[in-house]
Amino acid sequence: MVSMSDELQSQLSSPLKIGNVSVNSRVLQSPLSGVTDLVFRRLVRRYAPESMLYTEMVHASQVRHVSELPQIMEVDPHEEPISVQLFDCRPDFLAEAAQMAVAEGANTVDINMGCPVNKITKKGGGSSLLRDPETAEAIVKSVVGAVDVPVTVKTRIGWTDAEITILDFAQRMQDAGAQMITVHGRTRSQGYKGPAQWDWIRQVKAILDIPVIANGDINSAESALQCLAETGADGVMCSRGTLGYPFLVGEIDHFLKTGEHKTPPTTVERLQCAREHLQALWDYKGQRGIHQARKHMTWYVKGFSGASELRDQLCQINTVEDGQALLNVEIERQRVSSGF
Ligand SMILES: Cc1cc2nc3c(=O)[nH]c(=O)nc-3n(C[C@H](O)[C@H](O)[C@H](O)COP(=O)(O)O)c2cc1C
Repeated sequence: MVSMSDELQSQLSSPLKIGNVSVNSRVLQSPLSGVTDLVFRRLVRRYAPESMLYTEMVHASQVRHVSELPQIMEVDPHEEPISVQLFDCRPDFLAEAAQMAVAEGANTVDINMGCPVNKITKKGGGSSLLRDPETAEAIVKSVVGAVDVPVTVKTRIGWTDAEITILDFAQRMQDAGAQMITVHGRTRSQGYKGPAQWDWIRQVKAILDIPVIANGDINSAESALQCLAETGADGVMCSRGTLGYPFLVGEIDHFLKTGEHKTPPTTVERLQCAREHLQALWDYKGQRGIHQARKHMTWYVKGFSGASELRDQLCQINTVEDGQALLNVEIERQRVSSGF
């Protein structure tokens, strides 16, 4: 296991500087489509008050000529530090959307250049920009020219293992004006499988001047520390480890700042969090929120006997009351069995 040297500890305790934005945490919550809405971010924020959080990715054309912003772009008043993530391949659309994001309260604007989904790459967005660096450069320049907050990029290491282009690509993004780059250490063809190849992140860090954030397989304080030690990255970004576990960013942040582990939540506390999440999704989105809550509930409910049966039931809830009733029974059962 890696231990924290004095030098690393002092680097990790200093603020992360993204252009003129100073963030007092080296742990970031990634953008997760269908997950990091306002409701989820409020939970993450409770445990990680200083970390940079991201909205879900927003299609730039979705915000053109609309009188009301789409709900996924909504940011709480005083929700800081917060980044709005955009995707598209048209520099002018992205510039316009970025201005709307800033008006909504974004402290930075992030451009998605890593999404592997066919529907998006076929239209020239997401990770397909790795194969079209000229357009990627034009996008960064256009957005930088349109807003006065830092513009950042989130991308992957390449298209396939035979086509790892991140070193040249990252340099180009920096030269075009990006103020930070997050590198997900997988190729587009890896999707979300196989280990993240952190060594490429180390190589990116070695050649850039702007902050480099490491992403991929950051699921615990130990993995965060290991990744920071191996790559020299300026920070780490948590993703799937936060599904059903909005405590993760705060736990890692606490560890990096103090060298001490936070006590993890008990099963009862996790179930209470699930119950609050469900209620808040209902309050914020109505019936659509209940459908979205099903998957969240299944992520929360694990690691105890009877979890799989409960997951099956939570997958089918149609009302907030159904979900609350199922969770209340389990919370009571856990309380009794743990002696509280
Ligand atoms: C359900 C889901 C939704 C995602 N949505 C986004 C997104 O909107 N924008 C983005 O840049 N990456 C998105 N990602 C990628 C993650 O942010 C992250 O780069 C990836 O999961 C690797 O980190 P991990 O190994 O810790 O999960 C998504 C991933 C998942 C699993």
